[in-house]
Amino acid sequence: MKVTVAGAGYVGLVTSACLAEMGHEVTCIDIQKEKIDMLQSGRSPIYEPGLESLLEKNLHNKQLNFTINPNEAYSNAELIFIAVGTPEQHDGSADLKYIHVAAHTIAHYMEQDVIVCTKSTVPVGTNELIQQIIDSRKPPNLRAEVVANPEFLREGTAIIDFFHGDRIVVGTSDPKVAAIMEQFYQPLQIPIYKTDIRSAEIIKYASNAFLAMKISFINEMAGICDNVGANIEEVAFGIGLDKRIGPHFLKAGIGYGGSCFPKDTKALAQFGGHLNQPLPLLDAVIQVNKRQHSLPIVKAKELVGSLKGKKVAILGLAFKADTDDVRESAALTLINELSVEGADICAYDPIAIPNAKRILGDSITYREDIREALTDAELAIIATEWEQIRHLPLDVYLTHMKKPIVIDGRNCYPLQAIQQYPITYRSVGRPDKTM
Ligand code: UGA
Repeated sequence: MKVTVAGAGYVGLVTSACLAEMGHEVTCIDIQKEKIDMLQSGRSPIYEPGLESLLEKNLHNKQLNFTINPNEAYSNAELIFIAVGTPEQHDGSADLKYIHVAAHTIAHYMEQDVIVCTKSTVPVGTNELIQQIIDSRKPPNLRAEVVANPEFLREGTAIIDFFHGDRIVVGTSDPKVAAIMEQFYQPLQIPIYKTDIRSAEIIKYASNAFLAMKISFINEMAGICDNVGANIEEVAFGIGLDKRIGPHFLKAGIGYGGSCFPKDTKALAQFGGHLNQPLPLLDAVIQVNKRQHSLPIVKAKELVGSLKGKKVAILGLAFKADTDDVRESAALTLINELSVEGADICAYDPIAIPNAKRILGDSITYREDIREALTDAELAIIATEWEQIRHLPLDVYLTHMKKPIVIDGRNCYPLQAIQQYPITYRSVGRPDKTM
């Protein structure tokens, strides 16, 4: 099929590359010329395992094309995916300006009947609005059917998730359109759940809110474990054995970050308020996560007292491993708070330094080598569970740091391994070890 993807951001790029890999003829359009030029030469502006090779392969096969020209993108498209950003506004609500622009542009340039699928995360009612915008501006003889088709890709495993997801949600009131979408996705052999547009929109927000809730819940339990000397990993395993609870998303740590959970939980809470229906459970999820981001500072002060002038190594800047994304990363909150305390901060990350630098500038030192970051540090805080950190021989903390004091915000090391070394070690919801 001739498919166009609007937006060459994270979702748009992964969707474009994977649809091309499925054999569709894909055009991806974005307004940023620099980005499109880079993509056209086969380079990816984001780090995502497997993405660059899919881009290269499908550009070479001519299954995939990038453009800034809306006529080229929309005039012959049979299926259009809207995957533009919906950034957070000051009040927490989603900013829909890029969605509006995409809808207007599609209506202006379409020259044949088309199905328009919204992949962007949008508040309830947005797909109906997109339908209205397109209907009011498109040529009267043409039809456009808008479908809510939320995505559930995770950064770092997005390609695997695209081809092996748990479900595909198709929200439309038109059974013919639903059947076309079913046929479109059928080669993936992923269960397809057809529902109405509004329910599909809520499924996306509810999924992210529920996962965020699991994380904040286990983090609250980790706080209890910290207080009574229990082990949150044992607790998570024990509760996860109950099939009604399940073992996933129960990893305690310094809280969730990224471009989705923080933004979507706030947007949903804001939407509830707008409906005059407060969502206290969701408010608490957000609150707990905020507290969790600052947890290492509390532990650091307990261990070393004042942080003023002390060299602190931050291990990991990305909001999770296998991505260069630092949006809402716990590491950035930590760095801001440590700066206020007057600490001398040196941060390690294997790939996220350029993105972090764009936000933090030269206020801290950056190192791509863990050992260099740890050299002469009086405290190390692990903020991201990178393989490079999880597999770091523990004696490196002894040989390189001024004092081997480690706060592990991602529970990277087995407690038995830590016991073998004279390291002062604090993790999240697991028994402490003091030298
Ligand atoms: C999340 C969802 O998992 C995807 O299904 C969804 O499509 C995506 O948001 C989105 O809305 O676009 P993502 O943000 O890429 O994906 O990453 P996750 O793997 O969900 O992790 C989010 C955060 O939660 C990370 O900071 C991670 O460290 C944290 N987390 C995750 C925990 O603290 N504990 C856990 O048990 C799991």
